[in-house]
Amino acid sequence: MTRRPFEDDGQRLRRLAESDRRHLWHPFTPMNEWELEDPPLIIERGERAYLIDVEGKRYLDGVSSLWVNIHGHRRAEIDEAIRRQLDQIAHSTMLGMGQDSAIELAEKLTAITPHGLSRVFYSDSGSTAVEVALKIAFQYQKQRSPARPEKSKFIALNMAYHGDTVGAVSVGGIELFHDIFQPLLFETLRAESPHCYRCPRGAETSPCPVCAGDEIEQMIAEHSDEVAAVIIEPMVQGAAGIIPQPEGFLRRVRDACTRAGVLLIADEVATGFGRTGRMFASEHENVAPDILCLAKGITGGYLPLAATLTTEEIFDAFRGAPAEGRTFFHGHSYTGNPLACAAALANLLIFENENTLVTLAPKIVRFWKELATLRQLPGVGDVRGLGFMAGIELVVDRETRMTYPPEVRMGRRVCLAARRRGLAIRPLGDVLVLMPPYCVSEDEITWMAGVVSESIQEVTGKSESR
Ligand SMILES: Cc1ncc(COP(=O)(O)O)c(C=O)c1O
Repeated sequence: MTRRPFEDDGQRLRRLAESDRRHLWHPFTPMNEWELEDPPLIIERGERAYLIDVEGKRYLDGVSSLWVNIHGHRRAEIDEAIRRQLDQIAHSTMLGMGQDSAIELAEKLTAITPHGLSRVFYSDSGSTAVEVALKIAFQYQKQRSPARPEKSKFIALNMAYHGDTVGAVSVGGIELFHDIFQPLLFETLRAESPHCYRCPRGAETSPCPVCAGDEIEQMIAEHSDEVAAVIIEPMVQGAAGIIPQPEGFLRRVRDACTRAGVLLIADEVATGFGRTGRMFASEHENVAPDILCLAKGITGGYLPLAATLTTEEIFDAFRGAPAEGRTFFHGHSYTGNPLACAAALANLLIFENENTLVTLAPKIVRFWKELATLRQLPGVGDVRGLGFMAGIELVVDRETRMTYPPEVRMGRRVCLAARRRGLAIRPLGDVLVLMPPYCVSEDEITWMAGVVSESIQEVTGKSESR
């Protein structure tokens, strides 16, 4: 962005802030509150795990720029791959044409994703990856042999989040985000979320029938005649507040789907590409979904790209002469964008060359060791997650697990306090989210946990109990 003559950093910040307030509409942001934010955080550069604002202040990117960044900002290999691709072509359509980076990436993705996924359909975001998955599952049931057109519904978990387009919202279940759109949505069958800290069945000890998987298993069996697919965020429900699933839950869902002839859609938009410690979260339970949704980390956090992968069996149901009408009529202008595919290939090459998942393992151990200390804070009710994906739930009272009234904006206030200390994080309600890029050092992990602890104590006014 251009710098005006004789303008110092402070003046530039004020000018940009004023222009932002006049022209922009920020996503998931109460705009009145944003307009009052002083000073607003306006990022100009990135470097490794850090964001650098227009005044040169550095912030550790504690949520990987909304869960997308993998190896850090300004990774030379990804920068270079995009430049190389720019020297070739920035974009050409995939409607009726091929393109070398997209082909190479599809080959790579089918090689590294769970067994049996052999076809890649590109789109642009997590939401569109999910739209594609839902439409493929729906159309598949009509065109499979024997056809089962009555299998047209979906089962999703309560508090699920699969994106913001209308189909993705239909299978979503977060009241605050989704309720207002209810009249626009298609009907979805809802299974309880296995949320052990706030058990939907009020069970004091686990496993309850929800977290054991009994309830969802029964629902899948009972509704198998009308259900096309179950859609699930495997292992961790992210936007619901980083809710990890009990061991065995995902496996139960997979097996129930197989028995009932229902497809399993794994939405790994948030959990994919190492976020939970394995390349894909489904691997924790040795699960291969029928359809897999990928986005966010696919390009290392560089460019918008998504992929929906399916089995050959599903793909085959879409074969036939044009006149048979079996074609999948879906596609976006920038589907399979070459710059994004080049970034994704470079991202995956770093995973290989640097053995990223191996070097990540001890950092994950350190991460959870440091986070465990937060459990001692009286303002903290729960610390949960998996891999490099953590949620810290703030409560008024640890014993009763009482929540703060939403208008207190406790999560947001703690995040602002963390920002003043140089850590950029964003809450989900009163759940603080920590999802750093994998390049953070163990010392930075310790520092991050310290900042979170100080910020919680400052804002809640409750100090560590010893
Ligand atoms: C599990 C899951 N699915 C889908 C999405 C939507 O992705 P996008 O924001 O790229 O549309 C998200 C975003 O957070 C997500 O966490």
